[in-house]
Amino acid sequence: MAGGGYVLRRAGEKDIQGLVSLLAVLFALEEDFAIDPEKQARGLRMLLSRYDAVILCVEAFGRVVAMCSAQCLVSTAEGGLSALVEDLVVEEAHRGRGFGAMLLAAVETWARGLGASRLQLLADKTNRNALAFYSRMGWAETRMVCRRKS
Ligand SMILES: CC(C)(COP(=O)(O)OP(=O)(O)OC[C@H]1O[C@@H](n2cnc3c(N)ncnc32)[C@H](O)[C@@H]1OP(=O)(O)O)[C@@H](O)C(=O)NCCC(=O)NCCS
Repeated sequence: MAGGGYVLRRAGEKDIQGLVSLLAVLFALEEDFAIDPEKQARGLRMLLSRYDAVILCVEAFGRVVAMCSAQCLVSTAEGGLSALVEDLVVEEAHRGRGFGAMLLAAVETWARGLGASRLQLLADKTNRNALAFYSRMGWAETRMVCRRKS
């Protein structure tokens, strides 16, 4: 998908550095996650190597300025696949231009193409902008709470 000096496409190995920089912007907002470029590059490469995962990005004037990843899980509730959407971030200077909405729509198309009947995501409960954005995009709140054990 292309237009107005940007292209929305699948990310690849050559984009890793740009994606790591975008994840640093995201993780600076999310207290649950720590910025560690080596770990982030390793995770991105793992996603790139899987058939049931995708990293989409927006390139503007030769630079990656936005990204979103997704991976498929089996859901017993759905009796099928559910896609977990993560790592949605748009570089600050490029926000408000529809890139976030385009990435979410493209990730949804990818997930439906694999047969996923549901998409889900987690957001920092203090990230009011993201929560308002997801509401605007038609994503419903659930009663589930995230727990973690390291
Ligand atoms: C949240 C984020 C991804 C939105 O991306 P974006 O490209 O700026 O959003 P878009 O321009 O695609 O906006 C799409 C719609 O959402 C609305 N929207 C965007 N940000 C909003 C906000 N903070 N509050 C309310 N509505 C918002 C837009 O007005 C637009 O509405 P429209 O359809 O009426 O025109 C971006 O602000 C971002 O990267 N934030 C920092 C990282 C982050 O919090 N990521 C989410 C992690 S869970």
